Amino acid sequence: MDAKDMGADLDRILVTEEQMHTRLREIAAQIDADVDNTADSPLLAVGVLRGAVMVMADLTRYIHTPLEMDWMAVSSYGNSTKSSGVVRILKDLDTEVAGRDVLVVEDVVDTGLTLDWLTKNLASRGARSVRIAAALRKPECLKVNVQVDYVGFDIPDEFVVGYGLDYQQRYRNLPFVGTLAPHVYGAE
Ligand code: IMP
Repeated sequence: MDAKDMGADLDRILVTEEQMHTRLREIAAQIDADVDNTADSPLLAVGVLRGAVMVMADLTRYIHTPLEMDWMAVSSYGNSTKSSGVVRILKDLDTEVAGRDVLVVEDVVDTGLTLDWLTKNLASRGARSVRIAAALRKPECLKVNVQVDYVGFDIPDEFVVGYGLDYQQRYRNLPFVGTLAPHVYGAE
């Protein structure tokens, strides 16, 4: 899917495909430099379904250090657009995290409540370390002081789609990050 397929539904592009990939290469190099190669087991990259599929696929391919991948699906109680911080695990990891260096890979940090809960949950299982990489962050929306170790781009407080992010399950397969025209939401 590309901008042409969006027609008038696309408002504007915030992060192009090229910008995202350039930044992910930089982040991968930082991760390679930060990984503790003396650890007993390889880095465990944990992607948060479904939005992190694209960033997980691209970021991990730029990382040279050996790693394993696993996935979690979580759902936040609350309304559909804002998370409440009360999180339910829909799909848990298949991997034992005790003693592992974990890299949580997320699409966007909005309030930060989901990641705050997730990092505490992984730490309580005995992870040796928990770091976070997020393609996007909305600094104006943060409600908790969650430390995001690797951030692709800080973006304004706007609802975005593409690069894994959806509106009503659509637009995840856009290669860039953009905003939607008001008529898509039923407003003018
Ligand atoms: P948080 O707990 O508020 O940080 O929620 C993060 C989750 O909300 C993300 O992983 C997304 O699934 C979703 N989300 C937050 N902002 C957006 C957006 O602008 N577009 C699409 N999904 C979003």
